[in-house]
Amino acid sequence: MKATSILLASRPHGTPTEENFKFEEQELSPLKEGEVLLKALYISVDPYMRGRMSEAKSYVPPYKVGEPIAGGVIAEVVESREQQYAKGDVVLGNLPWSTYTIARGKGLTKIDKQVAPLSYHLGILGMPGLTAYCGLLFIGEPKEGETVVVSGAAGAVGTVVGQIAKLKGCRVVGIAGSDDKIDYLKNELGFDEGINYKATSDMAAAIAQACPDGVDVYFDNVGGEITDGVYANLNKFARIAICGQIAYYNATTVPVGPRIESTLLKKSALMKGFIVNDYTGRFGEATRGLAKWVQEGKLQYQENITEGFGQVPQAFLGLFTGENTGKQLVRIADPS
Ligand SMILES: NC(=O)c1ccc[n+]([C@@H]2O[C@H](COP(=O)([O-])OP(=O)(O)OC[C@H]3O[C@@H](n4cnc5c(N)ncnc54)[C@H](OP(=O)(O)O)[C@@H]3O)[C@@H](O)[C@H]2O)c1
Repeated sequence: MKATSILLASRPHGTPTEENFKFEEQELSPLKEGEVLLKALYISVDPYMRGRMSEAKSYVPPYKVGEPIAGGVIAEVVESREQQYAKGDVVLGNLPWSTYTIARGKGLTKIDKQVAPLSYHLGILGMPGLTAYCGLLFIGEPKEGETVVVSGAAGAVGTVVGQIAKLKGCRVVGIAGSDDKIDYLKNELGFDEGINYKATSDMAAAIAQACPDGVDVYFDNVGGEITDGVYANLNKFARIAICGQIAYYNATTVPVGPRIESTLLKKSALMKGFIVNDYTGRFGEATRGLAKWVQEGKLQYQENITEGFGQVPQAFLGLFTGENTGKQLVRIADPS
């Protein structure tokens, strides 16, 4: 059996390009006891992978040059020598970007095919959904009538954050990078206001206008000047969940922004960075909450699905130019 993988060919300097990736075909060896042969169905591309392409130490180790990129993959078991898994099972795992791969059963999660479409387990019922739920509810603690602002609002995490804040009775303002995205947030997802940051020269003024009662909760996916504009509008006892800083993932030097400490002091505000895995102890509660809202039709979910294994690098690169509305995935194959 032959498999094709996508390797990290070189570490990017600044914005990654297709040259940083290399496709390679290899022959897979026969299965050993405890192993399964998996066929990739959906591959998730995620902004955090940019950090792993660099050498710098972070909360997950860097990818190695010459080895496959890895991340969230939904795959079908096509052969099994592991008791827990049978041919036809569908699993979620942190797996290489490969058309087929051999994995140990440990570390895979079997997916209940009845709960939702398979791909949802990489999005609203997976890591991005959990990130939105945990960051907003456990750090932001939004209360009815408060104003919640979310940046990166039209993406996988942001769309869920804004909708949960609406379910909690908040006024919700989303910041995203096109008029189409703002229309989607307001007309499809029920956000109260939206700001296209690419068409706005004074973010602080735009946020002041969209948030006449100030900002009580800020869910930050982006950082940079967008976030500086939010800080100018914080209310007393505001809560800020620092989820991502995508504005700087490709930066070779990071500009210094305004000093924020005196604002936090004067506003008695809380600012907390988090990694979704900080909340593994609460994933059960969060997954049940998200699944219930999805099944009741209270959470809308959009996917941006690119077709074909050859398109995985391009789909990943598109995250940094805002090609996606909702969760960016690549469909590799259909289940048999
Ligand atoms: N802390 C955690 O555990 C955790 C977990 C998951 C994700 N995250 C972070 O959460 C954020 C969102 O992740 P996601 O998976 O939901 O991605 P996403 O929002 O679906 O995709 C990325 C989006 O970021 C926006 N963007 C790209 N470059 C930007 C820039 N320079 N300035 C402003 N916006 C920019 C683009 O939308 P526009 O068209 O609006 O520019 C793009 O669509 C990322 O920062 C990610 O690293 C953190």
